[in-house]
Amino acid sequence: MDSTDDQEVLETTLALLHSRQHISPKRLGDPGPNSEQIEKLLGAASAAPDHGRLNPWRLIVIPPQRRDRLGDAFADALFERDAAATEAQKQEARAKAFRGPFLVLVVARLGPELGTTHPQERLISAGCAVQNMLLVAHAMGFGAGLSSGRALYSQRIRSLFGLLAHEQPLCFITVGSVTRHKLIELRPVMANYTSTL
Ligand SMILES: Cc1cc2nc3c(=O)[nH]c(=O)nc-3n(C[C@H](O)[C@H](O)[C@H](O)COP(=O)(O)O)c2cc1C
Repeated sequence: MDSTDDQEVLETTLALLHSRQHISPKRLGDPGPNSEQIEKLLGAASAAPDHGRLNPWRLIVIPPQRRDRLGDAFADALFERDAAATEAQKQEARAKAFRGPFLVLVVARLGPELGTTHPQERLISAGCAVQNMLLVAHAMGFGAGLSSGRALYSQRIRSLFGLLAHEQPLCFITVGSVTRHKLIELRPVMANYTSTL
């Protein structure tokens, strides 16, 4: 690449990074990514930095026909932590499982069987994998958002996804077409997060 190409790549990259924003799954509708696009999205995760090449995370896609199982798990998790939850609240929890056309759970693999790499390095790798997927979704013209919520950390979700003892669910990623835009919120100011030793 010559320097003009370099400059264009830099500007395109910066524009992509700074225009990405969290889009709530409530605001993501059809069409979602097709199978070729899904390959690219999931494949982008593999470009994350990974000290020791452990692949210390995995991705579990929740296809449309399995959303009802996730919805039941959300409703059960709510009931487990609040036995007074009303039927309407349980329905609301269940409905969250059906938002957005493409949904994937990101799981960190923190167990000793992968080696001695510190858990925080593995979490950084997982975070980079998430960001790669968010940016590729954005570059494809989709909106994408992360979601966690208290149910994520429940035993009910762990058993639905068959998580092993040292695995931690980190977040869901939802990808789809943006049905309602939001204003880009202010980002942190560089001077506030940067110092010099
Ligand atoms: C691990 C993780 C979990 C998140 N879970 C939620 C969530 O449950 N609900 C939500 O509205 N946003 C969630 N977010 C998205 C953040 O709220 C969002 O990134 C933040 O507001 C900054 O906005 P931006 O991504 O547009 O810069 C999550 C982000 C991360 C990193």
